[in-house]
Amino acid sequence: MNGLQINAMNGMNMNSMNKATRRLSLKTGGYTYEDVQATADFLLSRTKHIPEVGIICGSGLGGLVDMLDDVEAFDYGSIPNFPISTAPGHAGRLVFGILGGKTCVCMQGRVHMYEGYPSWKLVFPVRVMKFLGVDTVIATNAAGGLNETYHEGDMVILKDHINLPGLCGMNPLMGPNDERLGCRFPALSEAYDKELRKLALTVSNQLGFDFVKEGVYVVQTGPCYETVTECRMMKMLGADMTGMSTVPEVMAARHCGMRVFAMSLITNMCVVDYDSDKIANCEEVLETGRQRSKDMQTLITELVRMMPSRKIE
Ligand code: HPA
Repeated sequence: MNGLQINAMNGMNMNSMNKATRRLSLKTGGYTYEDVQATADFLLSRTKHIPEVGIICGSGLGGLVDMLDDVEAFDYGSIPNFPISTAPGHAGRLVFGILGGKTCVCMQGRVHMYEGYPSWKLVFPVRVMKFLGVDTVIATNAAGGLNETYHEGDMVILKDHINLPGLCGMNPLMGPNDERLGCRFPALSEAYDKELRKLALTVSNQLGFDFVKEGVYVVQTGPCYETVTECRMMKMLGADMTGMSTVPEVMAARHCGMRVFAMSLITNMCVVDYDSDKIANCEEVLETGRQRSKDMQTLITELVRMMPSRKIE
């Protein structure tokens, strides 16, 4: 069974759409349902793998692909319609392979709003994952710690998010909605799968990782790191860490019915004191990523191994 057949069984069958929707062939952002399908078909005709898990590797965390067996990789530039990653620490390769006994597709590097991409464009790869057969998306990111009990190097499981750009009018699901992808008004009160969060905590305990926590992530577009007052505001809003990614992909994944797990690596603590001499910088973010990347890889691999498969064989 190929990825599209699996999707058809998951309720995304072209035949199930009504004629009115078919005639409109709505442009979801700047591309159509058929564009997503064409990109997935391109990949499926060039790889033997039909992935059930999609992994998005954050800044400095792309080393996870070294854990994959039986690898087949594609540069983003060689994939039709794919956005190209320009950020430091983001290789820009789509890598298929086996991790923890499950077939996975990994984005070794993502695209961000600060690169100038409209948010509908940066969720294109997540939608392609759905068409490839993926039903579980795992996203990692580098984040600045806002919660005072956090330390550099902590790994934090997302239990919720605040979408600051979304609240100000930048949401990847804005524009015409193609019902074949998902509904007009998706609920996000259970964006981060409870079972996977619980399992990740269990796995962390088994590994003896006492630096794994749960928290709320607030996204902002970047590329500037936050001002002191912005950090204080985000803390007051209830956020534990902040970064420039993940939330658009999570929304698109939930929109098309995939389950989601996400984890932040706290690469630096945000500056919340006006008199502090500390200044956030990209080198520090990448260096902490390098130091903790092995632990992140181990945790994600074990989580993938232990997670119940939802795939229809
Ligand atoms: N702010 C925003 N994004 C980040 C940070 C930060 O402090 N650290 C890593 N990504």
